[in-house]
Amino acid sequence: MASTARLLVFSRCLLAGSRTGFPAATRPLRRRPCWVEPVPARCFSSEDKVTVKFINRDGDTLVAEGKVGESLLDVVVEKNLDIDGFGACEGTLACSTCHLIFEDHVFQQLDPITDEEMDMLDLAYGLTETSRLGCQICLRKSMNGMIVKVPEAVADVRQAVDMGKSS
Ligand code: FES
Repeated sequence: MASTARLLVFSRCLLAGSRTGFPAATRPLRRRPCWVEPVPARCFSSEDKVTVKFINRDGDTLVAEGKVGESLLDVVVEKNLDIDGFGACEGTLACSTCHLIFEDHVFQQLDPITDEEMDMLDLAYGLTETSRLGCQICLRKSMNGMIVKVPEAVADVRQAVDMGKSS
């Protein structure tokens, strides 16, 4: 099942890559996957700050502040949080390394998942009922103080599964 999905993702990228006219190595990175048309903006930025607590693989808590409208990937990158392998595809929905597990009450208020995120999430290691991809989740004021858990291992669908430090 997973290999079928992987093959589908790979073939989509190949097809889209041939349309861009760029060789794969020099193709510009985009915030959305290469095969998805731009979606209406759902992340409206603001100067309001939101505090997020990341429970890292080793159990340590990393506390970071982001602006409303930023994605959780933006927060991890901008605050240089030490989460091994996180965000390998830079938010292009091609890796699933930004897999995060949310608290139930926060998960309920997240925007609906897209088919593209679902496809990639299916390939994430340690999937739970409240899993989402951090690069697709935008901060809202109501998320202030939320706790997100980093799974014990990371699966980059472009490579093999790497087990986390604690396992
Ligand atoms: Fe790769 Fe989110 S950063 S899917």
